[in-house]
Amino acid sequence: MIKKLLGALALSLTCVMAVAAEGGYHLDRSPDRINDLAALQNGAKLFVNYCLNCHSANSMRYNKLTEIGLTEDEIKKNLLFTSDKIGSLMKIAMTPEDAKAWFGAAPPDLSVIARAKSTNLGPSGRDYIYTYLRTFYRDTTKKTGWDNLVFPSVGMPNVLWELEGPRSMTRIRVHEIETPDGALKWERTTSKYDSQGFSTITTEELKGYDGPETTKVTFQTPDVKQFHDFESDVADLSSFLAWMAEPNQLERKQIGVWVILFLFLFLFAAIRMNGAYWKHVR
Ligand code: HEC
Repeated sequence: MIKKLLGALALSLTCVMAVAAEGGYHLDRSPDRINDLAALQNGAKLFVNYCLNCHSANSMRYNKLTEIGLTEDEIKKNLLFTSDKIGSLMKIAMTPEDAKAWFGAAPPDLSVIARAKSTNLGPSGRDYIYTYLRTFYRDTTKKTGWDNLVFPSVGMPNVLWELEGPRSMTRIRVHEIETPDGALKWERTTSKYDSQGFSTITTEELKGYDGPETTKVTFQTPDVKQFHDFESDVADLSSFLAWMAEPNQLERKQIGVWVILFLFLFLFAAIRMNGAYWKHVR
């Protein structure tokens, strides 16, 4: 019995490892702002303004935003568009068929995307969204004019580009290729994408190279202050999406603290009572 259980445990652990190994781009850690109401409110504002025209959040009602400290008036004034009511679900007008025709893929509903993108033990869905939104780069060869490091050939354009500011990217890839006569040789390919998306690609052969395949990406950001503010906005937005995927988590964590405190108190009482009960027996 115990052997079987251990076997199942080992099997599920290997599955987790396989998933972790499959992901290509290394995900950055997102700052945790799930307890910061001002950050969540900023995230909600960004979400409604920049994401809610393509993506819906069908499990979320606008008035649920009162739980992150917004008043119904503030929601009505700043976050609601014409036809929606404060009790409406966050739906969109675009149909999945149209979206598929325009972008090649339908934008997924974002209600629980932070949970859908989380891995056991590994990076959270918040980390995924945080990294994904910060790794768009201009590429004129793509239909939308953009590509992404986390999701190569993604159908979504970089909708936050104005907040992000201009950025160029250099990618250096050391990899093995097959020549027409069937031999193998190592090459270093340097791809530079400027802030307009034009690329220059240079290749050189690496004679006698004897190492692993590597890829190194660096971004060049002229306006560091603007980019810093953008990263902070993305952190707020990622935390908001994580909150939306599980709005009760603030309450759940608070209750958890009280439960642990209660258990400690109970432990203390139990130890004292144990002493009192056995005092006369010994
Ligand atoms: C112009 C329409 C459009 C807007 C605006 C937009 N998206 Fe997307 N998004 C898409 C499309 C299309 C896809 C599907 C891409 C694919 O599968 O190739 C997508 C996919 C995604 C995914 C899933 C990526 C994955 O790995 O599966 C996330 C997360 C996401 N969008 C977040 C956002 C956020 C956050 C915003 C707001 C800042 C936003 N999107 C704004 C069109 C949009």
